[in-house]
Amino acid sequence: MNAAIDLSNYRHAVIPPRSTERFARPQLASQPKGELVRTLDGRELRLRDIEPGDVAALQRQFARLSPQDIRRRFLHSMSELPDSMAQRLCRIDPAIESAFVLVDETVKPAEIRAVGRIYVDEAADSAEFSVLVEPDWARVGLGHLLMQRLVDDCRRRGLHEIWGYVLLENRPMLHLCKDLGFTRRLIPDEPGTTQISLQL
Ligand SMILES: CC(C)(COP(=O)(O)OP(=O)(O)OC[C@H]1O[C@@H](n2cnc3c(N)ncnc32)[C@H](O)[C@@H]1OP(=O)(O)O)[C@@H](O)C(=O)NCCC(=O)NCCS
Repeated sequence: MNAAIDLSNYRHAVIPPRSTERFARPQLASQPKGELVRTLDGRELRLRDIEPGDVAALQRQFARLSPQDIRRRFLHSMSELPDSMAQRLCRIDPAIESAFVLVDETVKPAEIRAVGRIYVDEAADSAEFSVLVEPDWARVGLGHLLMQRLVDDCRRRGLHEIWGYVLLENRPMLHLCKDLGFTRRLIPDEPGTTQISLQL
């Protein structure tokens, strides 16, 4: 089994993929998919692509979020994550979407602790991102890891820009993205919201 990604080493460095990943052979059915990640406070999660079978776990994660987290992620209030939306979020079109989840396999059933995704606009040669880390798992490097993965994924796709909308009051996200080199611009007809982007 591969050693876990240790975020205390990973945070401010981009690690090139292992040769075993670049030239990966199909995995045996019994092998767990994805990579192990060790958070800055020593907890272990599995990083993998989202799957259609993640619907219930995604809805359970939504139920653990605060109203503020939900507003910061979806830019409006929502009281639940409807089935149709959860299914749509888990059944992605890999041609124009990527979505990574960080899964806690130490509990039963396994729980999704963080999600990062991009949606590609082929005409604009860019992708819109979103990221969400549930509160008990914040500030241990997961947001940074997911954002770095999304940036790498956009580069792999040959895109020229990754961007997202962020509420101006969302200091953690603005701070994180500034660390990653994103710049921001105000949106005239959306007071309280900023668009942040990184040229690739
Ligand atoms: C914003 C969010 C993704 C950050 O994730 P995270 O896993 O806590 O971030 P990390 O642990 O990787 O922290 C990376 C950096 O983010 C910034 N950051 C994270 N939390 C912060 C906080 N509460 N206050 C200030 N800066 C913060 C810092 O720059 C931090 O670096 P530091 O630890 O050296 O100060 C997470 O809080 C979240 O999911 N919020 C709700 C949804 C959301 O806002 N999504 C963004 C819009 S799509």
